[in-house]
Amino acid sequence: MQVLVIGSGGREHALAWKSAQDESVSKVFVCPGNAGTALENKLSNISININDFNAIENFCIEENIDLVIIGPEQPLVNGLADYLQSKQIKTFGPSQAAAQLEGSKTFSKNFFKKYGIPTAAYAAFDNYDAAREYLDTINYPTVVKADGLAAGKGVIICSSKEEAIGALESIFKDQAFGEAGSSIVIEDFLYGEEASFIAVVSKDKMVPLATSQDHKAVGEGDIGLNTGGMGAYSPAPVVNDHIHQKIIDEVMKPTMKGLIAEESPYLGFLYAGIMINNGELKVLEFNCRFGDPEAQPILLRLKSSLVELCLAAIDDQLEAYEINWTDKHACGVVIASKGYPESHSSNHQVAIKQLNDVDMKLFHAGTKLENNKILTSGGRVFCATALGNNLKDAQTKAYNLVNSVSFNGSFYRKDIGYKGIK
Ligand code: AMP
Ligand code: GLY
Repeated sequence: MQVLVIGSGGREHALAWKSAQDESVSKVFVCPGNAGTALENKLSNISININDFNAIENFCIEENIDLVIIGPEQPLVNGLADYLQSKQIKTFGPSQAAAQLEGSKTFSKNFFKKYGIPTAAYAAFDNYDAAREYLDTINYPTVVKADGLAAGKGVIICSSKEEAIGALESIFKDQAFGEAGSSIVIEDFLYGEEASFIAVVSKDKMVPLATSQDHKAVGEGDIGLNTGGMGAYSPAPVVNDHIHQKIIDEVMKPTMKGLIAEESPYLGFLYAGIMINNGELKVLEFNCRFGDPEAQPILLRLKSSLVELCLAAIDDQLEAYEINWTDKHACGVVIASKGYPESHSSNHQVAIKQLNDVDMKLFHAGTKLENNKILTSGGRVFCATALGNNLKDAQTKAYNLVNSVSFNGSFYRKDIGYKGIK
């Protein structure tokens, strides 16, 4: 079999690396990929513009691609899955309509309300004046969210009315998020502990993946700006059996049903960001894809075939699917480039000391290969991921792996996994 993975981040390196482990898979192409996918056994990068659907279709036909896995949200929101599926190419990823769960906060909040899915109280606005008036009527802290995709950065937590006014000005007047900020949601601030619940979904069936927790803030102790994620670990003890079942019953099942009722049944990874407080839960957001960096520790724990799982979902065979995990814990630490998430420089040469430990895997994210040299090319550059007999052990190994990598201006959080260890 031949597989095509769309994307270039750490998640896509993990998806491609895991796909290549199947004996039945002879080749995994990654479009456009990174230095990690360029150097990996059985993997090849291809440079096709991911907005050129027709060129991707032609590549799939020429190379007899048996499965396409779409990693990031943007091509899903742009309708790449619909396009390839309409050409009879087996594609794992939701339709453009279903991807609105991530693509528009207004859509998702209205969807939660319509289908009784627990979430923070909110109001939606498409102009400064009405939103500004609303700020006089609410309690603080509050949360201002740009409606559209903003790479995890479109959420502003405001501790006071003044901060919230500043957020409205930056979104509506300075257009900090461009078109993505042409409308907004203002919602109640939720207290509690967050977890990522990710499942493989096909219409009304699903296979939950191992639980995980991400560290979204840039600074230790979860302070500072929100990022795409600075590290993650799996399993997440906050999702005990009771909470797990509650998420399935109160969030996942009504979401699958609601999407069927809206005539956009789901196919793909579905990610619910959940706030858990005293046994009660509320949905913070949906993502229409695997989490990054959650994918890296989760896929390191997956014993079953990822390719078979995706094909079972596409062929509506999830009911009988049994998924297997190692009992080991996994921890992934993101190594970022100075200035991330606001801005960062690129083209720093990377030195990597090879550590030969089967429980360790260095996933690349913002890297590229030029003249046989690995150079940085993004804000999040690597995710050093490791398995251990417990979370502490996995964390120690992940940080050993972090220490094998060096480049100018690198930084990482030193406390990834602390909530699971405490
Ligand atoms: P979102 O993209 O909506 O998940 O928001 C990104 C992050 O912002 C979440 O993972 C939370 O850490 C934080 N966040 C979003 N909404 C809220 C909320 N209502 N209350 C507290 N924190 C939130
Ligand atoms: N790690 C959070 C996300 O993928 O959105």
